[in-house]
Amino acid sequence: MSYEISKVDKGKEVHFRQPDPAFYEAVGGEEGMRELMYDFYDIIYESDIANFFPQDEEEFNEIKEKNTKFFIQICGGPKVYENETGGMELNEYMVRLHDDFSIYEKSRYEWLGCMEEALRKVDIDQKLKDDFWAYLESFSKLTVNTFADGSTYYAAYTQAAEDK
Ligand code: HEM
Repeated sequence: MSYEISKVDKGKEVHFRQPDPAFYEAVGGEEGMRELMYDFYDIIYESDIANFFPQDEEEFNEIKEKNTKFFIQICGGPKVYENETGGMELNEYMVRLHDDFSIYEKSRYEWLGCMEEALRKVDIDQKLKDDFWAYLESFSKLTVNTFADGSTYYAAYTQAAEDK
C-alpha cells in the first residue's frame, strides 16, 4: 500500500536509502522538482504545521527555494544545495537543521500528509513515487525530537544507504 507511515521509535536507529534517481528523471528534472516542491510548500502554508514556518512571504519563499534545491540534490540532480551545509555531510546537516524546531510525531504526520497530497497530483509510475516515499517516511523520523510525554531526543545521525 502506498503512502503508509510507521511510528517513530525514540532512540532507535533509522535506516534509509537515497531516492532512486529514476524518480527525479520521471518528475521532469530540476523544473519538475521545483513544481512539486513549490506545490508542497503551498500546501504546508495552509496546513496545521504552517506555524513552524516563516509567516513573512519573502522569508517563506526563500525556504521554499532552499528546500527545492535540497530535494533536487538528494534525488540525484545537480549539487545545487552543496554550499548551504558549511561542509557538513548533507543528510547529517538536514537532521541537525531540524533540531531548532520542536517537532512532534504529529507534526511529522502532517508534513508527510502535505507531501502525499502533492505527490498524488504527479502523474508518474506509482513505484517511483513509492520509492521516494520510502525515503521521506524513514528520514522524517530523524526530524522528530519532541515527544508526547514531554521528553526530547535529538536523533544521532545514522545512515544505512545500502539497505534494500
Ligand atoms: C524527510 C523529511 C524532511 C526533509 C528532507 C526536510 C527538508 C527540509 C529542508 C531542505 C529545509 C530547508 C532548509 C534550508 O533552509 O536550507 C527544511 C526546513 C524546515 N523543515 Fe524540514 N524536512 C523534513 C521534515 C520535516 C518535518 C517532519 C517537519 C515538521 C514540522 C519539518 C519542518 C521544517 C521547518 C520548520 C523548516 C525551516 C523553516 C525555517 O528555517 O524557518 N521538516 N526542511
